[in-house]
Amino acid sequence: MFDLLTPAQQDPILSLTVAFREDPREQKVDLGIGVYRDNNGQTPIMQAVRKAQIQLAETQESKSYVGLAGSEPFNQAITDLLLKGTDGYSRCATVQTPGASGALRMLADLMYVAKPQTTVWISDPSYVNHKPVMEAAGLKVRFYPYFDRQTKTVNIDAMLKTLSEAGQDDVVLLHGCCHNPTGADIRPEHWQAITEMALKQGFTPFVDIAYQGFGDGIEEDAYGVRLLADNVEELLISTSCSKNFGLYRERTGAAIVVSKNLETAQNAKGRILTLARATYTMPPDHGAAIVEKVLTQPELTQIWRQELDDMNARILGLREGLSAALKARCGDDRFEFIKEHKGMFSVLGMETAQINRLRDEFGIYAIGDSRINIAGLAESNIDYLADALIAVS
Ligand code: LMR
Repeated sequence: MFDLLTPAQQDPILSLTVAFREDPREQKVDLGIGVYRDNNGQTPIMQAVRKAQIQLAETQESKSYVGLAGSEPFNQAITDLLLKGTDGYSRCATVQTPGASGALRMLADLMYVAKPQTTVWISDPSYVNHKPVMEAAGLKVRFYPYFDRQTKTVNIDAMLKTLSEAGQDDVVLLHGCCHNPTGADIRPEHWQAITEMALKQGFTPFVDIAYQGFGDGIEEDAYGVRLLADNVEELLISTSCSKNFGLYRERTGAAIVVSKNLETAQNAKGRILTLARATYTMPPDHGAAIVEKVLTQPELTQIWRQELDDMNARILGLREGLSAALKARCGDDRFEFIKEHKGMFSVLGMETAQINRLRDEFGIYAIGDSRINIAGLAESNIDYLADALIAVS
């Protein structure tokens, strides 16, 4: 049967990681996949995570199954981190998932079970896995305009105008913070407008928040999702511990359903568990067990928050350094937006041919839509990148 298959289309992010590894050049810079790196190019294990791992190694007594929903104390801790204090907190249910991609898929499958005619509206551009996951679940996908490639800011008028078409059979997928790929975030007043539109038009908001803590802070980055949880009846949330706990390979995330009341939320959770059983049965435990320890032991929580702040400060420093280096070379403010963007990424607004030149001539790897991972830079290669960007501009 396999001779009927045509070659698979490669994932633009993961395939770039392979190409980078295979590049024999000494001078090369990986600004592709969204992982945080320190100034030595390493993705460190956070101290709080390391301490929790040691505790686990010393005290965990069994590797028996945990359960379809994963660890309930983890689910509680992650729900607290996102939604505590909101109206939706008392009418939500959470399932641990294999990363946020697992959460996206479980929530997409849930939507399909609940309402197969659902259309999911995705920002243009969006995280490369949004469309494939939604379509794999059988859902229709439409795009709303998001990014103004000239100003490198959110084109909020076009976004809201298009979303005014969304109705009761629609789900609007929003990035909670640190928009992937662009780095351009919507502002509080825009969240307010979207909330009002959801209430008036009846669409269901879906917040994917994979970078909480990498924008303006843990609490600040939850502004939009909390506003929605306070106001709308139904809300879907996918969240990730890959970035803010540095647990990438441990595949640790969660799917949260906010519903009319606790009973309907629990029903939705039950349906997710049935879907999970037919997919991967239950999520891996190790990452969630670590997060549970970090979030439930105040001394570990404090260490973790400080480390996250330090990572953020490094990214901000890199943003400032890169935009200053570019200004020094081109003599104007055309790269100032790099300082304004949030999180790990910025879309530079360059053409594919320019991105190819960066790779071929300079060994600088960026995603084809000109997304660069600022967190992949070292201070020592800011000038090299700035020279290369000017050369291909
Ligand atoms: C990214 O956007 O680079 C990350 O979220 C990794 C991934 O899963 O694609």
